[in-house]
Amino acid sequence: MRTNQIYFKTPIQRVKMALIDSHGRQINYVRLAVTDRCNLRCTYCMPQHGIDFVRRDDLLSYEEIIRLLKIFKSLEVTKLRITGGEPLVRKDLLPFLKTVTDQGIMPGFHLTTNATLTLPHIQELIDTGLQSVNISLDTLDKQRFIDITRRDHLDDVLASINAFYQLDVPIKLNMVVSKGMNEQDIIPMAEYARHHKIQVRFLEEMPFNGLNEPKSDFMTHHDIKKVLDTHLPDLTPIPFKEGETSQNYQVSGWKGDVGIIASYSRTFCGSCNRLRVTPTGQLKTCLYGKNELSLRTHLRNGSSDKEIAQKIQEAVQKKPVDGFAAEAGRFDTVLESMASIGG
Ligand code: 5AD
Ligand code: SF4
Repeated sequence: MRTNQIYFKTPIQRVKMALIDSHGRQINYVRLAVTDRCNLRCTYCMPQHGIDFVRRDDLLSYEEIIRLLKIFKSLEVTKLRITGGEPLVRKDLLPFLKTVTDQGIMPGFHLTTNATLTLPHIQELIDTGLQSVNISLDTLDKQRFIDITRRDHLDDVLASINAFYQLDVPIKLNMVVSKGMNEQDIIPMAEYARHHKIQVRFLEEMPFNGLNEPKSDFMTHHDIKKVLDTHLPDLTPIPFKEGETSQNYQVSGWKGDVGIIASYSRTFCGSCNRLRVTPTGQLKTCLYGKNELSLRTHLRNGSSDKEIAQKIQEAVQKKPVDGFAAEAGRFDTVLESMASIGG
């Protein structure tokens, strides 16, 4: 067990500034949502008419984000994921990413995207430090893609996947499995990993759909595993890596592998190493928890970097042990869209 003490640099010692929570976990991974906007309308994420998207002034500016990332760097955060909404709908994303890597603030970045807008930018993304890509894709069927996302972009997504693959970018495909929506797509999606060295991951649906009602009926990771088992009898579990959220399986003879993320059953919280920053600069220490700290307020009220670092340390100290404890600590129920929380 590591100690829970907060360390600061003193002239006498070079003391560690790592973010360590009260459960002994080192938090070295930040998921940064750069926008809540999206060009799709996935039924499990937001209603047809969208959500109340935030005003531009309420978003963290790129300058504010750069400052924040430098603070995270000083707290020994080494992994950055850019997410949303759909990150590529935010103007000037690529020059911003170039600054992050050119200034050596982070060694590079991982990207979560719906891959509808990426095709013209793939080489530039790689040149600016793209380390891997997680692509949200819930079906390979053209009509079902339209039914789920309410837009007709499957061909763009497939072209992007192909281009990332040709350029050796590590790819994970994330499929949200929803009862009555795309159960029949589990095996065709898994089959993608037969001849491609990629990972296909199946996610339990979470009730973050921007509506005022939680979902009563959903497919659990056990249900998903059962479907995989009936078609792929020789799944071999791959041991969990620290901080990983998916239970992965090898299929003999396949180039890629498959994984299941128990996003609602929350089986993976124990080794959580992550923080989230929402588009409006709220720090979330757990996806299921409340906003712990408005970083935006501190970035705009004259606080020093050291003061902000200390606030982050304090919030991390209170990071709940798991998603159930986080949810129990709220007065409300989590009903907002995944796009406003940051996927
Ligand atoms: N349940 C599970 N995953 C979701 N995502 C968005 N909404 C939900 C939900 N209700 C996923 C997307 C994408 C990431 C940004 O979050 O599929 O992979
Ligand atoms: Fe957009 Fe992702 Fe939400 Fe779909 S799940 S509407 S792609 S943010």
